[in-house]
Amino acid sequence: MTDRYAVIGNPVAHSKSPLIHAEFARQTGEDIAYSAILAPLDAFRATVETFRDAGGRGLNVTLPFKHEAWNLVDHHDDFAFNATAVNTIKFDGALGIGFNTDGIGLLRDIRDNLQRPVKGAKVLLMGAGGATYGVMEPLLREQPERLVVANRTLDKAARLTGHFQRFQSTTVRSLSASPYDALGNACFDIVINATSAGLTGAMPPLPEGVFARGALAYEMVYGRRTPFMDFARDCGARVADGLGMLVEQAAESFFIWRGVRPQTATVIAMLRKA
Ligand code: ATR
Repeated sequence: MTDRYAVIGNPVAHSKSPLIHAEFARQTGEDIAYSAILAPLDAFRATVETFRDAGGRGLNVTLPFKHEAWNLVDHHDDFAFNATAVNTIKFDGALGIGFNTDGIGLLRDIRDNLQRPVKGAKVLLMGAGGATYGVMEPLLREQPERLVVANRTLDKAARLTGHFQRFQSTTVRSLSASPYDALGNACFDIVINATSAGLTGAMPPLPEGVFARGALAYEMVYGRRTPFMDFARDCGARVADGLGMLVEQAAESFFIWRGVRPQTATVIAMLRKA
């Protein structure tokens, strides 16, 4: 029998996840159907339960419900627990198990697809909202030399780095929070934009000297050119958008559900052409 999966969000019509998972299923021969479900903002839990009770096997959770999903599931894997956000649910009968594959997706795109080692690198992560919480632990576990979280509102960045401080001794040499205007002359090998600024055509106030020679500028937003991407290109950085992360986090969800790892390169190439 065909197993049913879906992405749940609000809005969700724009989601590329159904296309990506249909391609993974075709490629691996797995018998699944994958749809998009719009949950009313005040009825996330009821919508999830209806899907589960109708035999649904798993969900991807997107904005704005990742934290609500964290509260809803019965068990978490470590990444999801520490991120306080869930983007993947696997149903085992009535039990929901929560995972977070965003950070693994980002890491695989940067390290494997774009061939930029995070280990030993100086990394600047911009933003201290849900997107940043989702990627912190996998980045830290990769042992960068330095990880600075910059945010307009310093309190939020300090709370976030405090939350992940317990990983410091075993992972990164230096983990800190900073306002943009205190970045000074520090330069970074990898600069990641995890803010929502690009969605409104804005950009964090980054100093020009922030990119080390040959640095990678990674914009988590995909499907549009953002001011951060233009700025980084003008500064001589190599620029990537978040399409690869999207496909890699989907591949990890697919693996959690089906135990089969799909190929991602062809799917990324297909979406770039679309
Ligand atoms: P979410 O949890 O969904 O990621 P959020 O908590 O509102 O949403 O986080 C959005 C992030 O983008 C925040 O770090 C925000 O900075 P502040 O905490 O200072 O508000 C950041 N952000 C949004 N617009 C920005 C802009 N124009 N310049 C710099 N940072 C911006």
